Amino acid sequence: MSKEIVLSGIRPTGFLHLGNYFGALRNYVRMQEDYECYFFVANWHSLTTHPDTKELQHSVHRVIAENIACGLDTTKAALYVQSDVPEIAELYLYLNMLAYKGELEKTASFKDKVRSNPENVNAGLLTYPVLMSADILIHRALYVPVGKDQEQHLEMARNFAERFNHRYGEVFPLPKAFNYNSELVKIMGLDGNGKMSKSENQMATIYLADEDDVIRKKIMKAKTDSGPTAPDSEKPDYIQNLFTLMKLVSTEEVYNQFDANYNGCSIRYGDFKKQLAEDMANFIKPIREKAADIQNDKLFLSKVIKEGADKARESASKTLHLVRAVINMNY
Ligand code: TYM
Repeated sequence: MSKEIVLSGIRPTGFLHLGNYFGALRNYVRMQEDYECYFFVANWHSLTTHPDTKELQHSVHRVIAENIACGLDTTKAALYVQSDVPEIAELYLYLNMLAYKGELEKTASFKDKVRSNPENVNAGLLTYPVLMSADILIHRALYVPVGKDQEQHLEMARNFAERFNHRYGEVFPLPKAFNYNSELVKIMGLDGNGKMSKSENQMATIYLADEDDVIRKKIMKAKTDSGPTAPDSEKPDYIQNLFTLMKLVSTEEVYNQFDANYNGCSIRYGDFKKQLAEDMANFIKPIREKAADIQNDKLFLSKVIKEGADKARESASKTLHLVRAVINMNY
């Protein structure tokens, strides 16, 4: 029986961080065992914000290296760069005819970008969710492992797929956002403000490339308070966030101990953060070191990128063949 198809991608707009790990990479590594997986670096998407393209090239290599360092096995999953798969651009063109200006203007990520950078409201930014849908639908993917911030984009991908199927003929399954623990994840910044992100407050973001000392410093500065005043109180979101991180990197015993201390109102945040900082540094160190090694091995990187592109194009061209057939574009 053929396996169900999974796709996901990451924009190379900065260093990867724990939010990316939790929302996306951790699931990729598990999913590659059971599904036919396609993971990619979304470099076309990065152009919507006009970065320096020399730096972008470097970031693409780093994101590929970080994916592998986190456990992605390129003999199991296809790992590729978006711009190496021109079939995506053709599907993007067809889907653009099914996307309406009004709905694109209402997208939360578009409104955020317009607010933060009113000088650069380009058409690529407006149609970002259409390109993202093409990324997913080009492999006829069913599951898309992403963090909570991508939920609306996934809803739009389902709408576009449904419209396409309705107008031209059944080609696409309707893709779903995926997380192993059913709820999509949102990791907050360590300052308790908004989500951890590649470009916002760097002191509130733990990057997979951070050195041990930097990790310690950031965690010791994380927002806490004077502690719970009644037993078994609900944790404020910024404290819950630190516990979520502890669950990822510490042993169950350590986690349970601090959780019990919290519930019994005896938690000392200084000790809690010290433990979290040590465990986090131990967790990130091998990823950081492996990613650095891979990044220096240009030959290996280009081999991986070429093999990924070949696998992705094989799947993409099959889909495009079906798409052209139902649109009557075969002459
Ligand atoms: P990007 O590059 O912003 O983020 C990559 C992945 O990391 C997740 N993520 C988070 N999860 C939890 N907490 C956070 N603080 C956090 N920050 C980021 C994101 O949800 C994402 O899964 N539009 C996408 C890239 C993309 C894509 C696609 C994804 C392009 N085409 C097709 C899936 C399918 C983006 O900007 O992700």
